[in-house]
Amino acid sequence: MHWLFASAILYTLVAGYALHIIDDSHLWHIVSITNMSIATVLLVLFPVRCVWAAIRTSPAEIAGVSRAQGALAKCTHKMLYYLTGLVLVSGFLMVPHGYLLFGLWYIETPFDDEVITQHWFDIHRYACYALAGSVALHMAAVVKHQWISKTNVVQRMT
Ligand code: HEM
Ligand code: HEM
Repeated sequence: MHWLFASAILYTLVAGYALHIIDDSHLWHIVSITNMSIATVLLVLFPVRCVWAAIRTSPAEIAGVSRAQGALAKCTHKMLYYLTGLVLVSGFLMVPHGYLLFGLWYIETPFDDEVITQHWFDIHRYACYALAGSVALHMAAVVKHQWISKTNVVQRMT
């Protein structure tokens, strides 16, 4: 679940910002539809991931890591969950008139009113900034623990 979400979120973040610099309207449309479709798969899997996170047994604390640092890591992980949920929900609610999932199936969205969808777009935009920042912090922590403190933190996730 972690690696599926990590790769899809990294892709959607990069592709979401890449939309600002794509001029070709056909390519823009393909990237936009692909982004929304991949994110829709995550939207469906997100509750499963949350239930799994609540019922699974967590791995043991890493030896040599202080309590404060452990608590900070847990806090950042929780933040990643909240922000992912907010980005997914706001993304879905900001789309007016629905969209074609992978260009094949029509998915209806609840709001057509531009005032409401613009409001959700603002939330999506700021939540994406916060998510991108938290992911950068998370990846910096992984690099630090894996290669500087040499705690083999990546092996814990495989
Ligand atoms: C290539 C990039 C990434 C690497 C190498 C990576 C690596 C890791 C590692 C090693 C852990 C375990 C930390 C521990 O044992 O205490 C972890 C946990 C976690 N990561 Fe990542 N991560 C990456 C990207 C992401 C992204 C993009 C997200 C999404 C927002 C994310 C969300 C989480 C969360 C929520 C946890 C807590 C454990 C869980 O509930 O799944 N990671 N990550
Ligand atoms: C993993 C979750 C998601 C991530 C990381 C993500 C990321 C992004 C980013 C970075 C942007 C550009 C924001 C800006 O202009 O400042 C964006 C725009 C947008 N997102 Fe998301 N998004 C996610 C989920 C969704 C979902 C579920 C939908 C709808 C089904 C969606 C629909 C849109 C739309 C319509 C835009 C405006 C550009 C476009 O037409 O593609 N997003 N997203």
